[in-house]
Amino acid sequence: MSTSNFIIAIDGFSSCGKSTLAKALAKELEFVFIDSGAMYRAVTLYFIRERVDLQSEQAVLQALESIHIDLVPNGQTVQILLNEEDVSEEIRLMYVSDFVSEVSAVKAVRQAMVAQQQKLGGRRNIVMDGRDIGTTVFPNADLKIFMTASPSVRAERRFAELMAKGETVTMEEVRDNLAHRDHIDSTRQESPLRQAQDAIVLDNSKFTQEEQLKIVIDAYNQLKIKGSV
Ligand code: DC
Repeated sequence: MSTSNFIIAIDGFSSCGKSTLAKALAKELEFVFIDSGAMYRAVTLYFIRERVDLQSEQAVLQALESIHIDLVPNGQTVQILLNEEDVSEEIRLMYVSDFVSEVSAVKAVRQAMVAQQQKLGGRRNIVMDGRDIGTTVFPNADLKIFMTASPSVRAERRFAELMAKGETVTMEEVRDNLAHRDHIDSTRQESPLRQAQDAIVLDNSKFTQEEQLKIVIDAYNQLKIKGSV
């Protein structure tokens, strides 16, 4: 248990509602929300634009040196800046989603992102969501949540998000992308997606957003009562 700051780690597959819960928690507890997936997406956008060859270690390292990512709170949201350009919208587009798992599986990319995430969470109360937060980034996180949801709920969530952004995409493409990312995210060698043994498992298909928030706030309050916060 950390003494100076409190860390809530939320992991799980894509489109299980991690960031919705993370944002609600951050608002309720006045913690800083950090979307680690957005960082991998920003790196991916850079790699796509610069046509970085993932097979070339030198090219990857060189690219990583040229990338600076900032997360800037902006009201209820967080702006993602890639070398000072606001890429918050672009990183959510399908062409980035299609390639993000390949980029996130590269060891040097993970090392760079994990180091930055650990720094970001160093001295503040944070809620960070991702795939390896409770296992690799903050294995000693004070509270760990692992989110799941049925494949159909996940695909519908993602489809609705993309449609709301005006993307022309079919349900089948969304399902394929989720399955593709699930496979790479959970089978890669470097910190694959796994449930931490001490995580609370939340099935998003079974609870409303309010119920999920309450479960986590109750767990947080329990820790507080025990004097660990
Ligand atoms: O949470 P998201 O769907 O925006 O994440 C995009 C991708 O980034 C996801 O498919 C895998 C990768 N990712 C990761 O490898 N590790 C994390 N901690 C967060 C995301």
